[in-house]
Amino acid sequence: MASTAERGTWGSRAGFILAAAGSAVGLGNIWGFPTQVGQGGGAVFVLIYLLCVLLICLPIMVAELVIGRHAQLAPVGAFDAISPNTRWWLVGVLGVLAGAGILSFYSVIAGWSVAYIWFAGTGALTGDAETVEAFFATFTANGPLSIALTLVILGTTATVLVGGVQSGIERVTKLMMPALIVLLLVLAIRAVTLPGAAEGLAYYLRPDFSRLFDPTVINAALGQAFFSLSLGMGAMLTYGSYLGKQESIVTAACWVVALDTAMALLAGFIIFPSGFSIEGFDPSASGPGLIFAVLPRLFATLPGGQLFGAAFFILLTIAALTSTISLLEVPVAHFIDVHKWPRPKAVLLVTTVVFLIAIPSALANGAVGFFSTLPGFGTDFLSLMVVIWNNFALPIGGLLTAVFVGWVWRVDRAIEEVELHGSPFPGRALWSVLIRWVCPAAIAAIIVSAIVSM
Ligand code: PHE
Repeated sequence: MASTAERGTWGSRAGFILAAAGSAVGLGNIWGFPTQVGQGGGAVFVLIYLLCVLLICLPIMVAELVIGRHAQLAPVGAFDAISPNTRWWLVGVLGVLAGAGILSFYSVIAGWSVAYIWFAGTGALTGDAETVEAFFATFTANGPLSIALTLVILGTTATVLVGGVQSGIERVTKLMMPALIVLLLVLAIRAVTLPGAAEGLAYYLRPDFSRLFDPTVINAALGQAFFSLSLGMGAMLTYGSYLGKQESIVTAACWVVALDTAMALLAGFIIFPSGFSIEGFDPSASGPGLIFAVLPRLFATLPGGQLFGAAFFILLTIAALTSTISLLEVPVAHFIDVHKWPRPKAVLLVTTVVFLIAIPSALANGAVGFFSTLPGFGTDFLSLMVVIWNNFALPIGGLLTAVFVGWVWRVDRAIEEVELHGSPFPGRALWSVLIRWVCPAAIAAIIVSAIVSM
């Protein structure tokens, strides 16, 4: 196992926040959030999502960072070091599986984003709403192309990881994140001033309370919150292990959560107003293709739309890559730490396995009928992966993490780690209650009622 000196720490607090935010901000915010809002009935989903972020995910973010920084190890090793001779290391194994599972569908969508850089830049995405939608359908029905694009994303991610972890991530994220924020703001301003935007804003902001207690909606909101914040699978735990002892964990956690949530909300302000400005738009009908159908129409309303479109998909691809890097790093670090594999071997083997699991997702949007409408599931393979990993695996990982910190390692030791070198821990009494009682009970209730209502 590498010592602290060999593992390195972040260049600065800003560097850590950028890297962790780089993991958090990605397709989850710009593709996942609007898609889920569309399927979850609009504003009511947004409301439940925000409650999940504040009451469940923020405390678990602190918990993951604390475990990582205390143990200075990747997930499996960290659980084992804090609670030796128990089975808690299995939580780390769940994270390793979730990392591979999520990466498998994630790299398919990121591959679409790569292709759309080209399509947007060359003006292939013009025409009315129907043409743009038909273009997406034809594109994703091309199986070999989807598989090749998935391989481009996985290959790039693997190349970065063979070279070591942070040095690159910190630098790239520092440039990409501000650029993405500015571009999203410009797009949001354009979107809310389109004719028909008011209807979209109402859909996005005025909750239909009749779905407030729909277990499927609540489960999807919880899963989306975990997915978007990179929680429940040890990614943040791993980043925490690189966080300096003098840094404030609470400040870092709040920054990452605030940035990530702001970016997701901003994406909603782009997609729904521009979606509703299109005749006959139904946000619940589009599925994974929602943003690819709506955004080209928005770019077309901007002067220099082709350039905007290409710039948008470039930034989205980079944002996705800073996330795929953290997704792949969890299983890779596991095989390096626990099985003592050399880094290149670990990267090559994990990437190959992920690629094989990714193939059905790449074929699930029209290329192969079986994967596109899974008999008996009423959904496509890719959407099924989202449900399995985001809605179930991540929240279960988060639940176990909360129980571990709250009851096994115990909150006073975690608090001690947070307060090292005089770092403040505002709201620590509230945090203790949330992590011991509220997080486990709420997650368990949501998962059980989702299963029962299936
Ligand atoms: N949070 C990332 C996104 O929103 C995805 C991710 C999930 C990354 C889990 C790492 C771990 O795009």
